[in-house]
Amino acid sequence: MSADSGVAEAAAVLRAGGLVAFPTETVYGLGANALDAQAVARIFAAKARPSFDPLITHLAEAAELEKLVGTVSPAVAVLAERFWPGPLTLIVDRPAAIPPIVTSGLETMAVRVPDHAAARGLIAAAGVPVAAPSANRFGQLSPTWAEHVVAGLGAAVDVVLDGGPTRCGIESTIVDVRGERPVVLRLGALPVESLEEAVGPVTVRPGSSGQPVAPGTLAAHYAPRTPLRLVTGAGPMDDGGARRGFLGFRSRPAGEWAAVEVLSSDGDLTEAAARLFDALHRLDGAGVDEIVVEPVPEVGVGRAVNDRLRRAAATWG
Ligand code: TXA
Ligand code: MG
Repeated sequence: MSADSGVAEAAAVLRAGGLVAFPTETVYGLGANALDAQAVARIFAAKARPSFDPLITHLAEAAELEKLVGTVSPAVAVLAERFWPGPLTLIVDRPAAIPPIVTSGLETMAVRVPDHAAARGLIAAAGVPVAAPSANRFGQLSPTWAEHVVAGLGAAVDVVLDGGPTRCGIESTIVDVRGERPVVLRLGALPVESLEEAVGPVTVRPGSSGQPVAPGTLAAHYAPRTPLRLVTGAGPMDDGGARRGFLGFRSRPAGEWAAVEVLSSDGDLTEAAARLFDALHRLDGAGVDEIVVEPVPEVGVGRAVNDRLRRAAATWG
């Protein structure tokens, strides 16, 4: 249903323990009432998501955070003030009101305020915090259109709010500011450079160790069903032939290819991030034997794009 008219009905579904897929500025989320353990259990079932992979709790307003968790640290307050609503997820202590299933038993909770009118309207109308992972089956490509959600999850979702394509196209940046120096647990739509401008140097440690994890940082994740290979280094590329697809940053490769997607002919990394998963969904549906991908420049949101591409390739490596 449309994200403009369907919000009130979708909020009622959330309150009744149902699952609502909704657009955010990053990717579509699969939401449930975060205060309702049974509703949250349905998210894990719908996604076939392992129970060790914790969810992000979404709030309508930054002011809701203190109501939920009590006083927050100065570092959390600074980042929330600066970047919320927006594609930044912060790690805080899990409040008692949030059942452990949301955080996979962790004593910490990931939380963010999405920068999307339908998402915030939905959460506000439901009147509860909303636990929501990306609305795809575990390990697969993230959804940036409502159609991706329907194709991937179908009947497992009670309502899909259709807000068209998402603006950023890549998930939120996850930052843990509980230590002395902020640690980026997952590269995402908020560039590291923007974070550092606000809080000084940060450590980027997406998934370098086993625990505690941001399992969107599992080495293999975000993968199409078609084998994907990341090419590195310059030099002439082979012809793709009739059975291979290509995902390029600025331009088409020479030679024959069964399917080609170009992320941004202007070389704009923001545009490339916004188009990444949609292009991968299309190549995945093109019936090719292999998707060959060239990385984008390792700067700004390009770092998060390359992170997703490396993990997608690792699934097939
Ligand atoms: O942009 C986004 O963040 C989207 C939209 C829907 O908000 N959500 C999203 O959720 O990407 P999901 O579940 O696909 O990824 C959440 C990531 C996982 O890698 C999870 O392990 C990590 O957040 N995470 C959740 N709680 C955590 C915690 N307490 N400590 C460390 N990582 C956590
Ligand atoms: Mg995900």
